[in-house]
Amino acid sequence: MLAINGVEAAYAESTVLNELDLSVADGQVVCVMGRNGVGKTTLLKVIMGLLVPRRGTLVFDGTDITRLPPYERARLGIGYAPQGREIFPSLTVLQNLVVGARRKRPTPESMDYVLSLFPALSRMLGKRGGDLSGGQQQQLAIARALISDPTLLLLDEPTEGIQPSIVHEIAAVLERIKREGRRSILLVEQYLEFARSICDRFYVMEKGGVVLEGDRNAFHVDRVSAFLSV
Ligand SMILES: Nc1ncnc2c1ncn2[C@@H]1O[C@H](COP(=O)(O)OP(=O)(O)OP(=O)(O)O)[C@@H](O)[C@H]1O
Ligand SMILES: [Mg+2]
Repeated sequence: MLAINGVEAAYAESTVLNELDLSVADGQVVCVMGRNGVGKTTLLKVIMGLLVPRRGTLVFDGTDITRLPPYERARLGIGYAPQGREIFPSLTVLQNLVVGARRKRPTPESMDYVLSLFPALSRMLGKRGGDLSGGQQQQLAIARALISDPTLLLLDEPTEGIQPSIVHEIAAVLERIKREGRRSILLVEQYLEFARSICDRFYVMEKGGVVLEGDRNAFHVDRVSAFLSV
């Protein structure tokens, strides 16, 4: 469903992604790991269209999206929950969700669906985003990314700074999405046990490229963590 080939991306003169290849198959959960600053978030920005690569191609469901703007990628079915969540603090939970919808208003079905995934949010629709806990904001960010019914969900470190009980809730939601089989997930994750428990395939990045990849049964925590330790 997503094929990234030979991508090179840079901020001004500093090259961050180099000759990067990665693919995500239909219905798969793919985890990307790597030390701080190796380019994981940059990779997701390139997929979402927030940064245009200098070289290489991205093909999504048979369409070359390399030069498409973010809103067109969203329309094609890519949803994004950014690192740090980027919830609008002065908007309510409901308003944050509406902002995430592709059309002017989310459909009742999509609203019911995300609230069934995150029942806690349905009890705080009128609350300001800024008054939510970090874990609740993360759930809201994922819900907002899902409300336009994407077929590829990009998640950037959803467990970062989140209390364990909410990490479990998020894991259960991702498991449910995986069982439903209608979407793929590309998950950037530093918490290795969480990544291993959910992924079908994994990639480890170093200096803007892939240094280790494999499917779930090749995911050995010791081997992966050797690439992550400083
Ligand atoms: N907007 C920007 N302008 C210039 N350089 C940037 C920008 N954003 C990131 N960088 C640099 O690009 C490199 C890769 O950053 P990126 O955020 O993609 O890393 P990351 O793997 O997501 O790190 P982390 O684990 O800390 O989230 C880093 O050296 C970072 O300092
Ligand atoms: Mg990052």
